[in-house]
Amino acid sequence: DKIHSFQITLLDWYDHNKRDLPWRQDHDPYHVWISEIMLQQTQVQTVIPYYERFMADFPTIEKLASADEGKLMKAWEGLGYYSRARNLQKAAKQLVDDYHGKWPKTSEALQQLAGIGPYTAGAIASIAFNQAVPAVDGNAFRVFSRLLEIDDEISQPHTRQLFEKIIGKIISKDRPGDFNQAVMDLGSSYMTAANPDSSHSPVKEFDQSFIDGIELNYPVKNKKPR
Ligand code: ADE
Repeated sequence: DKIHSFQITLLDWYDHNKRDLPWRQDHDPYHVWISEIMLQQTQVQTVIPYYERFMADFPTIEKLASADEGKLMKAWEGLGYYSRARNLQKAAKQLVDDYHGKWPKTSEALQQLAGIGPYTAGAIASIAFNQAVPAVDGNAFRVFSRLLEIDDEISQPHTRQLFEKIIGKIISKDRPGDFNQAVMDLGSSYMTAANPDSSHSPVKEFDQSFIDGIELNYPVKNKKPR
């Protein structure tokens, strides 16, 4: 059916075109977690050297949990949003003290950790633990709103749940982590916000807003009153 052929098309494109990124060398939840937190407010190209230094300085959850706070803040310098780094250490301590260093594996349980919201929990659960849960970030909002012409305003809290439900039906149950990461790569290549190249996109035949010539109408954002 259509969902299956979308999955095959997307994953086949990903297999041949995925970006070679340091956090994609394995599926270690620690690696996935740190990279996803860094990538939240920072571009991929900026994150790469920070990620590599961070792994050299704090190679395990235990080392992060017991790290000197000044050293941690120093490693974060330039990334900004320091609460992210403080939450990383807080969650590392939770994992060591409350979870005996063993990761919880569901999205719901992961969201009990400091600084881990629905997006990060979905990314870790799918990439590291092969759970068929969506990871809804700006890329996923943009990609699926365009593919399916979803008119709900993405700033409304309820809209995230709607996207999670819809993507939950479309996500590959065999390769959920690759599916989510393929959506991220699609969203930063062919299906960008300002200058999409939809006519060359590997999923253009599934892209209803492209077919209708209205992809720039998506995602629908709150019109601010002026
Ligand atoms: N942006 C957020 N998470 C990402 C990931 N895992 N790979 C590439 N870009 C991302």
